[in-house]
Amino acid sequence: MADTVLIYYSLTGLNDVIADRVRQKTGADVVKLEPDFNYPKAMYSCWDIVRKWRGVGSIPKHGQPLPDISKAPQLKGSLPDLAGYQRVIIGGPVWGWTMANPIMTFLTSANLSGKDVYAYWTCVNTDYNYEVDFKSLLPADAKYRKDLCIDSEISDNPEHLEQSLNQLLEFGD
Ligand SMILES: Cc1cc2nc3c(=O)[nH]c(=O)nc-3n(C[C@H](O)[C@H](O)[C@H](O)COP(=O)(O)O)c2cc1C
Repeated sequence: MADTVLIYYSLTGLNDVIADRVRQKTGADVVKLEPDFNYPKAMYSCWDIVRKWRGVGSIPKHGQPLPDISKAPQLKGSLPDLAGYQRVIIGGPVWGWTMANPIMTFLTSANLSGKDVYAYWTCVNTDYNYEVDFKSLLPADAKYRKDLCIDSEISDNPEHLEQSLNQLLEFGD
């Protein structure tokens, strides 16, 4: 069993590719979150559904409160058992300036107490509330080590992506 686990979600495939790179670089065990609902892959059709569950308007706001996603679809199966892992890497897309619902659902139920947490997220170019919202869902004794916003400038440039991932994944602890 590895000492690192990557928990991730992908709707349209970018995070599948990135998760594979992370696995190759770290030897981490990998768990892909699967929601109990088929989100449409087209961004605006998906957003129309997501924002209704979140009770937000069509345009997200800077510093908006963490959305209440308790009525949104849950995850399939049981939560991954994190007990044997010291390091937990969590990756997924930005939806409406914050985490995609499956990442939020995972964080609200997972036990990350005492873990070293590494976060990355993918987006086109706007991730305004992601980091703050993500941290707000961690228990006080989780150790938030490093993060990386992979916007399209990074994900469209393989060399830049490699460098950025290498920096994130230099654990040094
Ligand atoms: C519902 C929805 C909302 C999105 N909101 C944002 C956003 O606020 N900012 C942004 O830059 N990209 C946004 N995107 C684009 C996604 O972040 C991008 O497609 C994603 O990082 C691709 O990852 P994936 O292929 O692993 O799903 C959104 C996409 C969807 C489906």
